[in-house]
Amino acid sequence: MINFLKGQPSSDLLPVDLFKKASFLALDAKNADLDMLQYGYELGTTEFRDNLATFLSKEYSMPVESWFVMGNMSSRHLCPTSGASFGLQHALSLLTRPNTVTKYCYFQEPTYFLAFDIFRDLGFELDQFAGVPDKQEQGLDVDHFESLLVEHFGESPAPMKKDDDTWIYNAVLYCVPTHANPTGATLPPSERERLVQLARKYNILVLCDDVYDILTYSGDDGQTTPPKRVVAYDLELDSAHPVVISNGSLSKLLAPGARIGWLECHETLIQRLGPCGSYISGGSPSNFMNQVVNQMLKSSDPDINLHHHVAKVRTTLEGRLYKGMWESIQQELVPLGCSAMKPKGGYFVWLQLPSGIGCGDVQQMIRDHDIDISFGNTSLFMVPSSTQRQDRIDESYIRLCFAHYDTVTLQVGIDRLAQAIRYACAASSPKTPGAWTLLPKGGKSSPNVIESKLR
Ligand SMILES: Cc1ncc(COP(=O)(O)O)c(C=O)c1O
Repeated sequence: MINFLKGQPSSDLLPVDLFKKASFLALDAKNADLDMLQYGYELGTTEFRDNLATFLSKEYSMPVESWFVMGNMSSRHLCPTSGASFGLQHALSLLTRPNTVTKYCYFQEPTYFLAFDIFRDLGFELDQFAGVPDKQEQGLDVDHFESLLVEHFGESPAPMKKDDDTWIYNAVLYCVPTHANPTGATLPPSERERLVQLARKYNILVLCDDVYDILTYSGDDGQTTPPKRVVAYDLELDSAHPVVISNGSLSKLLAPGARIGWLECHETLIQRLGPCGSYISGGSPSNFMNQVVNQMLKSSDPDINLHHHVAKVRTTLEGRLYKGMWESIQQELVPLGCSAMKPKGGYFVWLQLPSGIGCGDVQQMIRDHDIDISFGNTSLFMVPSSTQRQDRIDESYIRLCFAHYDTVTLQVGIDRLAQAIRYACAASSPKTPGAWTLLPKGGKSSPNVIESKLR
């Protein structure tokens, strides 16, 4: 089965040798017992945060602050987490009050579907959920967001509420501003700035999953510099009332199993995200693994250095996207009436099916004709609601991940998808025989295709 819904790296991108070498170095280092096996500090070691800030500054091509903290260089803007999923839950649990102050959860729509349950687990109800639609490849429609805020809070929002002498946000916006999951859309700089202004005016916490920024491909313009993160605009403003958190992760760059992530934001927020109950009790999460990754961050040996590995991942994924998936889409799917925006990074292509054909039609043909292929359909990525809105979703888009298979398998997968779409088109216009040529079924999937969890 070629499963395009899987949003995870293929096994050949997971660097076992790199982990072996870095683990050995970390465990062999002086004080390894205390640094790795003992309870750690709330925000991890100052060295890890400094090295992470240096790594991110180079990858983002813009400084992530590192400063003297108690005599050592470190970052006051980074809080370690065990990945972006945990980072989202951590920030929500400390900075929102689902049943009292925090009235709404806004989601860029369509969005990363596994985020919804994280909000639900914390006590948010479906009737607090609201979608902010995308403006095609421009990402989140900030005008629409503003109109929702005016509708919910009026033109002049009430001053922020305090809880135990700290402010709690009136609402949360969850978004993926760069190379979004599932659409690949990227919010333009001017809209990023406006978003921060709006969030400050209405006391909205903006949680940006920035997990794909560093996977910016050269594409048509040859530019691999990611856009300035939304948090960078917030960091330029005063620290009295910060509103943006950049939720980062090494899952897409190194290994999801390592569970390494960080939150980047104003120090005022770090002071609430770091010294919290569970961090005080157990130290920052993933302390052991952070020390292993610390070796990758500081080593100049290309076999161990993280920049080196990330560059390889970027080149491989760029090849998979453009050579494996994009070219096949142009050759096989566009002639059938499909269309898509060409992504500039990330993991996904958001494909629009031919007019009049829905995800269900294609899935039916996959079942009827026993075609070994699967994908994510539109409704999976739409904001769940307590009303029957689900019935009105335009089911004409599918998400295709290009990170989980090699180039040849991607081509085979697109070929199979084309077959299913041809059948669906033929079934939708039975009175025009010959309008769609039905090809024989495709071959078997390549042997490196394995079953595992979806993302
Ligand atoms: C937008 C987005 N956020 C978060 C995650 C999960 O990240 P992590 O593995 O760091 O929890 C994913 C994974 O697909 C994602 O696409």
